[in-house]
Amino acid sequence: MMGKPEDIVLLDENGYRIDGRKKYELRKIHMEVGVLKNADGSAYVEWGKNKILAAVYGPREIHPKHLQRPDRAILRVRYNMAPFSVEERKKPGPDRRSVEISKVIRGALEPAVILQLFPRTAVDVFIEVLQADAGTRVAGIAAASLALADAGIPMKDLVAACAAGKIEGEIVLDLNKEEDNYGEADVPVAIMPLKNDITLLQMDGYLSKEEFNEAVKLAIKGAKAVYQKQREALRDKYLRIAQEVGE
Ligand code: CDP
Repeated sequence: MMGKPEDIVLLDENGYRIDGRKKYELRKIHMEVGVLKNADGSAYVEWGKNKILAAVYGPREIHPKHLQRPDRAILRVRYNMAPFSVEERKKPGPDRRSVEISKVIRGALEPAVILQLFPRTAVDVFIEVLQADAGTRVAGIAAASLALADAGIPMKDLVAACAAGKIEGEIVLDLNKEEDNYGEADVPVAIMPLKNDITLLQMDGYLSKEEFNEAVKLAIKGAKAVYQKQREALRDKYLRIAQEVGE
């Protein structure tokens, strides 16, 4: 969020956004499950111009051993941005932002994973952002949750996620990079739709109480649409396997 230059119009007089979307429209989303041979589970998500790969390993033995929990598995998450994923080359390796995002994504996923089934082990989730265009944490959560399901990790529900925000004084769904940069607020949300649980809620910027409520409601609605796409992607994987074996 930064000051918007005069010449940038995020919402035109006909109600269209910079990328041609209406206020409540999601970017185009494509999801694929089981894309990596050497991970236990994986998924690839294209969400607008975001391109994100998630890989899951586990449940597996923990190193170092003192991290083992006698009663459950631990969930570890690493969110990482490729140097070429952003306009200004990102220095490789963890920075403050990626450490924080890894932590909040872990918190968003953990309530869904049934960790008690695998004492003393770790489930490792790697999220690699290949191309970033705002909303990478929500797209990363969607990808990671698919990769966990693909790895056969028992879960209470898939975790779905989406952001809403404010541009030109209006609440809109799913901010892209320009809207994130020059908009007034961004509210990413993650949910477990089956029971309407919220596992992530953050806010960057400034909103009135009414606007905040509207943004959260809209983000939840967006996340429910994302959930349907996740389910389709999982179904497609099994249809593909069935076709391969001639069923
Ligand atoms: O990606 P998300 O919206 O979850 O997180 P953010 O910290 O609000 O970042 C918004 C966007 O800023 C990212 O998706 C990238 O497109 C961009 N960004 C960047 O250009 N360079 C960075 N070092 C970090 C983020």
